[in-house]
Amino acid sequence: MQRNPSTRAAATAMPDADASLWTALHAGVAQVAAEVRRRIDHVAYRAQQTAIRVPLATTRAVASALVGGESPDPAAVVALRERYEALLARDLANVDAGLYPRSLLYQIPFARYARTLPTFLVDLPGVLRRVRARDHDDLPGDVDLGRYPPYFRRNFHWQSDGYLSCRSAELYDLTVELLFAGTADVMRRQVIPPVSRVVGDGARSDVRLLDVACGTGRTLAQIARAHPRLRLYGLDLSPYYLQVARRVLADVADVSLVADNAERLPFRSGYFDVVTSVFLFHELPRPARRAVLAEMHRVLRPGGLLVIEDSAQLGESGELAFFLGRFAAEFHEPFYRDYVRDDLAAAAADAGLRVESVEPHFVSKVVVARKLAGARGPTSMHRGVASRRRGHARPPRS
Ligand SMILES: C[S@@+](CC[C@H](N)C(=O)[O-])C[C@H]1O[C@@H](n2cnc3c(N)ncnc32)[C@H](O)[C@@H]1O
Repeated sequence: MQRNPSTRAAATAMPDADASLWTALHAGVAQVAAEVRRRIDHVAYRAQQTAIRVPLATTRAVASALVGGESPDPAAVVALRERYEALLARDLANVDAGLYPRSLLYQIPFARYARTLPTFLVDLPGVLRRVRARDHDDLPGDVDLGRYPPYFRRNFHWQSDGYLSCRSAELYDLTVELLFAGTADVMRRQVIPPVSRVVGDGARSDVRLLDVACGTGRTLAQIARAHPRLRLYGLDLSPYYLQVARRVLADVADVSLVADNAERLPFRSGYFDVVTSVFLFHELPRPARRAVLAEMHRVLRPGGLLVIEDSAQLGESGELAFFLGRFAAEFHEPFYRDYVRDDLAAAAADAGLRVESVEPHFVSKVVVARKLAGARGPTSMHRGVASRRRGHARPPRS
């Protein structure tokens, strides 16, 4: 049967119209669903953070009412609150912008921390004794201290065994989350957006990223979730912390962990596309800070990216002076007073890097810098590329 051409056109046009209506409807529903999910995330995430912060803030307020001590400067309290709120807002905005996955908002290992809590409480009297006695040399007797630089051989934050035992490594993550009222991992993941902007969707698996002073691996674990195809390397002076890192990173496919000193990185010049480091520099004396920066510069390829996160400094965060001063006074952090007066960005520039940004995040700051294209590391410092893959950490150098 012959059809009239106009009937034929109508017959084909109708399904097209249906299809585009269906597509538009589908897109509209997807958009509404995404917006609903975004709003639920915002409420759920803030509820989670409040549930962590309020009991801690209450405990701290009761403790300082009992013990006494200097009342905080009201302007500094307001600044601290504003920065806390800004950090949470930034975290959510980063997820909305696709800079890291939403699953990172909910990755605090509550069950692991609950299991650690009894050990933490049992350990507490020893910490308080150390604080009262100002005893910062209370280190394990069975460790060969001569293998570590003098600045490292101490009880940072009065913690038991310094960085030199499995017990210390097991307690560390919980202790830091308690100290920062549930924002330690949030601050750590602020190194990810600059990396995401450079590696894009992370589809390339030939990009090498080194996290210097990776500790128990919480930054690397978050980077791996955001960019599962990166080739990850972690270095830390504490073999005990690397033991925990190995467990934290157990499901990460491509990661190498090396026990060594960041002042002499055991990698070939220009080997890495990205170098990150979180909360290391405030624990180093100034010459060591400079040496580590020089090494970071050396192991980056020309054009490579450096992202450092560490404590805020007075230069950009003068409004937090009260809290930065209190941290130095209350915790054993012998290099912190000098650190807050130092300038990480200027030091990175002195090491030959081009600083691209400096951003405060709550009580921390993130410095983003690039190794200038055409720049070369000192050839005399060429070392073998670390070929050790997961589970083959080396003992520290003597
Ligand atoms: C405050 S912790 C930070 C660890 C981790 N980046 C984090 O975010 O939890 C400092 C870390 O630096 C490591 N460290 C200190 N001096 C070092 C050095 N010279 N070379 C390598 N690691 C060092 C310590 O062992 C410890 O794991």
